[in-house]
Amino acid sequence: MKYSILYLQILGVMAFLFTLPASTCFAQEQSKISPGEIWPDRDGNHIQAHGGGILKIKNTYYWYGEQRRQGLDTNFRYVSCYASKDLINWEFKGDALKLGGLDTLLGHKWVLERPKVFYNPKTKKFVMYMHIDGKYKRGTTSSTVTNNYTYASVGVAISDKPAGPFKYLKCFRPLGHESRDIGQFVDDDGTAYLIFEDRPAKGFHIAKLSDDYLTVEKDVCLIKAPLEGGAIVHYNGLYYAIGSALTGWRPNPNLYATATSLSGPWSEFKDIAPSETNTYGSQSTLMLKITGSKKTAVIFMGDIWKPKTQWDSRYLWMPLEIGEGKLWLPKPEPWTINLKTGETK
Ligand code: GAL
Repeated sequence: MKYSILYLQILGVMAFLFTLPASTCFAQEQSKISPGEIWPDRDGNHIQAHGGGILKIKNTYYWYGEQRRQGLDTNFRYVSCYASKDLINWEFKGDALKLGGLDTLLGHKWVLERPKVFYNPKTKKFVMYMHIDGKYKRGTTSSTVTNNYTYASVGVAISDKPAGPFKYLKCFRPLGHESRDIGQFVDDDGTAYLIFEDRPAKGFHIAKLSDDYLTVEKDVCLIKAPLEGGAIVHYNGLYYAIGSALTGWRPNPNLYATATSLSGPWSEFKDIAPSETNTYGSQSTLMLKITGSKKTAVIFMGDIWKPKTQWDSRYLWMPLEIGEGKLWLPKPEPWTINLKTGETK
């Protein structure tokens, strides 16, 4: 008798659990960032913010990236937005951009990659840059079909709020150059730069945005190294640039160089990790600087791509060993950060 009551109680609890949305069961507070693992958001779903960028507003971090969850409407391309106050636990704020209607211009398999969002304090607008590509050559008719990365342009979208909805404005080639992978860099003086890979020039540009951020105004430097996934950080009086070789989704040894001025001259590029690890299977997308009361941490943000199952692509975020002209990505392991002091462990 006793047992059957217990049994009924257990059944009752199980029945109750089944009525909860699946996600609720998994919404657990996490205490560490675990590179390469599934990274559940607050709903328990693996974070979809690939090739991403970070924007900090007051004490909230926003993470934007390529939304690649399964079952998306293939007529659109999506940019996701997540928010966090600790860099570990992220809340999905929805798709900040849902972009369609570019098939005629770019072909059905066009791509939107590596979205990055800047906040413009003068206009109070959030401005998103993204790599837009497709198989038609710019300025020609659709009969000029080449490969899927021929259009080589950037798109710009704008919003009044960090989580969107962003309104798509236009698509262009920055200062007339081909542009594929893009990166973002905001210097300590607040100046905003777009980093973009220029295949014909065999390098990547650091280019200043216009006052309203809606266009690319001035080329500050063309770093003559055939690298993409470009990212920059300003640390202790020195600029550090990192990038990845042009091997598509396949990982390669990412490299870094330094300069005292963004316009160069830049040093030779060196490995950021043991070359045989191919950057521990990842590709750079951003370096995030956290200035705390005791330490300034610089976090390497990379993607571990899974080309055939993109929604399962992972992230490699790790605090870098950086300073005095050296930059090194330690062997990935779970870690945490105290955002007040900047200390990581
Ligand atoms: C990589 C690039 C990715 C994506 C991929 C497609 O080189 O960094 O963003 O474009 O190629 O092959």
